[in-house]
Amino acid sequence: MVNLAVIHYSQTGNVYAMAKTAADEGAAAGADVRLRKVRELAPPEAVQSNPDWVAHAEAVADLEEAELDDLEWADAVMWGTPTRYGVPCAQIRQFVDQTGGLWQRGGLINKVMSTFVSTATSHGGQESTILAMNNTFYHWGSIIIGTGYTDPILFDLELGNPYGASHIGGAGPMGETNRRGVVIQTRRVLEVAAKLKGE
Ligand SMILES: Cc1cc2nc3c(=O)[nH]c(=O)nc-3n(C[C@H](O)[C@H](O)[C@H](O)COP(=O)(O)O)c2cc1C
Repeated sequence: MVNLAVIHYSQTGNVYAMAKTAADEGAAAGADVRLRKVRELAPPEAVQSNPDWVAHAEAVADLEEAELDDLEWADAVMWGTPTRYGVPCAQIRQFVDQTGGLWQRGGLINKVMSTFVSTATSHGGQESTILAMNNTFYHWGSIIIGTGYTDPILFDLELGNPYGASHIGGAGPMGETNRRGVVIQTRRVLEVAAKLKGE
């Protein structure tokens, strides 16, 4: 059985919807799944200034926070982040920046890594955000999995993306095409992780 960690940050719920989809699909496919959020770094007054932020924080209050042990445990990690000026959010980077000891011990070598993203606009930095995560995964010696053009839905003119499932938050909540993108990505991650594990 593949151990799948879905580690994400979401301010207003778009990335969370993708993360939940990945976790549900992973569980349905027989993986042992840990859905985790990373720690909030923004000051309370920033959160309080945005009703959508407050509502989402309350909605996921009971969701466990990611720990380094989740990375040790996982055969595969799916990362979810909103784009922040074309790159991953600070909350995800802060968690990633705690992996020094694990990296030094070679603890992330040959683990499967894959990223999905939500932006406000279609050209707002989806690819650059996913590729920025991939830079780190090269350092870790991990196996990077994108979606490729492995399914006809990935040729969708708006949402098709070979780098990883990508949602346009400015266009509204996650629709069926996005959901399918996350499902395809999750299945590819599990397929490769299972092969690496000899299953
Ligand atoms: C500080 C900040 C920077 C952002 N930078 C970008 C950006 O470069 N491109 C973009 O399309 N959206 C950008 N956004 C919008 C978010 O990426 C977008 O709303 C995303 O869907 C939020 O996901 P969430 O609902 O999971 O928090 C930015 C938002 C904030 C707060």
